[in-house]
Amino acid sequence: MPRTSRQVQSPDEVHGSVRQLLGMPPGRFLREYWQKRPLLVRGAFPDFQPPLQPEDLAGLSCEETALSRLVVHEPRADRWSLRHGPFDDATFAALADRDWTLLVQDVDKWDTDVAALLDRFDFLPSWRIDDVMVSYATDGGGVGAHVDQYDVFLLQGPGRRRWSVSDDPAAPPGFREDSDLRLLRQFKPTHAWTLGPGDMLYLPPGVPHEGVAVGECMTFSIGMRAPAVGELLPDFADEVAEALPEARRYADPDLAPAARAGEIDAQALARVAEALGPAASLMDDDARGDWFGRYITRYRSAQAPAPPDRATRATTLSAALAGGVPLLRHPWTRMAWRRGRRGTTLFVCGEAHPCSTALARRLCAERGLAFAAPPTEAELSLLLTLVNGGHLVLQRRSRR
Ligand code: SIN
Ligand code: CO
Repeated sequence: MPRTSRQVQSPDEVHGSVRQLLGMPPGRFLREYWQKRPLLVRGAFPDFQPPLQPEDLAGLSCEETALSRLVVHEPRADRWSLRHGPFDDATFAALADRDWTLLVQDVDKWDTDVAALLDRFDFLPSWRIDDVMVSYATDGGGVGAHVDQYDVFLLQGPGRRRWSVSDDPAAPPGFREDSDLRLLRQFKPTHAWTLGPGDMLYLPPGVPHEGVAVGECMTFSIGMRAPAVGELLPDFADEVAEALPEARRYADPDLAPAARAGEIDAQALARVAEALGPAASLMDDDARGDWFGRYITRYRSAQAPAPPDRATRATTLSAALAGGVPLLRHPWTRMAWRRGRRGTTLFVCGEAHPCSTALARRLCAERGLAFAAPPTEAELSLLLTLVNGGHLVLQRRSRR
């Protein structure tokens, strides 16, 4: 799913009613806000009664299988720490009385009253809803400025929380390196609101935001889920592959005698594209060629050469080659090469190396390689990599 932060427009604020969770008919919400722009609904849940208490949440966070996190902020040093549950009484006894928050995911699976909150969201496909995450925060507590990949409805429970969001499409996306929380390195809010009990903020994916507790508070986050294409694709491909007949495979009845045996040429790549069918268009020709080179030099290899116990130095290799010592290809090493957009690439057991065409041809064609003229510096560096990867072995004559 593309990040929508690039399209986000200014947030709006509306008032809910007993009948209307969103302050407007769901169709209008979906058309104008869903996956497009934030919406603050004051009084989305009028007279909101929390379905669980902070003590219940703390108790749940001590369960072995509950997904719980504790985030502590040290504002002076601006240091953030993240701990994962299960927690125990001692964890909570050791906490200061401000600047921390406890978050538990999937609380709807543990508590039917929390699950009942989801009934109000039945204008959405139920399978798009991931969970209700509940947080309890002491004054100043929060999880820092961040971006979520999913739509979320942030329903304010007891207490108040100040939410800041940025609708700047050019907001810098970089993360801080000093925390596991994926905190934004820079966050310049363009809007901020303090939410009280029953108020709800909808955020589409990709909107930088931060919620800070104003006194003790609880927040119920109704989070959506949408699979990344990177998750969809492998599963889909597995299913497609399972249904394919064994006999459907790379085929080359039109094969002509190979002029350069190690080369993966344009005809071969056209056959790969044909075998893949419409899936081939997911990669451009050059990237697909590189993928195939890596794949085919790994294909059906029962073993791979192991790096030698002692690494060879460049000077040793160069002296040995100058002295006429040949390099032998390891029997388990598969090699191929192709000419691509950025020059020639040598593929060796699934790895790709830039290489001169002349050396790539020789490496693929000759099992034992001797050099009449010294290799170039780049060639020597590649040969050294292959020697130290165990793919090429210096064939030293044994001393009498
Ligand atoms: C929270 O409930 O404190 C965090 C919710 C979020 O920002 O995603
Ligand atoms: Co968030």
